[in-house]
Amino acid sequence: MKILITAGPTREAIDPVRYISNRSSGKMGYALAEAALASGHQVSFISGPVALSAPSEAQTTQVLTAAEMYAAVENQLTSDIDAAIFCAAVADYRPISAAEQKIKKTQDQHITLTLEKTADILGSARSPMGFEGLLIGFAAETQHLEKNAQAKLKQKKCDLMIANLVGDSTTGFDVDENQLQLFYRNGKTDALPRQTKVRLAQKLIEIIEKLGEAKT
Ligand code: CTP
Repeated sequence: MKILITAGPTREAIDPVRYISNRSSGKMGYALAEAALASGHQVSFISGPVALSAPSEAQTTQVLTAAEMYAAVENQLTSDIDAAIFCAAVADYRPISAAEQKIKKTQDQHITLTLEKTADILGSARSPMGFEGLLIGFAAETQHLEKNAQAKLKQKKCDLMIANLVGDSTTGFDVDENQLQLFYRNGKTDALPRQTKVRLAQKLIEIIEKLGEAKT
């Protein structure tokens, strides 16, 4: 298969020295890229800024902002891509404009940042991007995991939504292990118990291979 994977956070500049970002180490996305390559797939890998080295056999595009990630996905989500896995933690809002110079501290106790919405990249994959292959999203939730993941599955027209609870220190962000709930378009659900992200990635690639076989 040809698989496109997004990974890591995005960074939205406030001024030349500060930014808004998401807590994402990129470990899950990088493990997915490695697992897909190890299973013989071709990987187009689009990554935000992380402290990991990109898999050498992947065709990697490094981006910083949500807008850059959108442009890279739009450019690479061509009709020869069989499956697209959106693992990136994209900023939902960015400062309406980045200050050209460092914002200086004043006497004020409060300052206000005005933010504007970024484009939903996964939510744009079907339309306007016109992608018809397997579409897989991730949902990081602090509560109401099933309800939120099911809503995202439908809204973003995915075949599979992979959800995990975040907010405690044992799973989710910046740790090597995770546990996942899977929600399929046909209503089926599944769970992958707590294990390393490397092992989870291998299982997810097997699941995506089966979805691909069922589709052809
Ligand atoms: N996503 C994306 N572009 C965005 C926001 C999210 O592609 N601007 C993708 C993520 O990569 C993930 C999925 O959408 O696969 C769900 O992301 P998440 O942040 O959990 O959901 P949101 O749609 O942003 O909703 P909320 O933040 O309100 O939970």
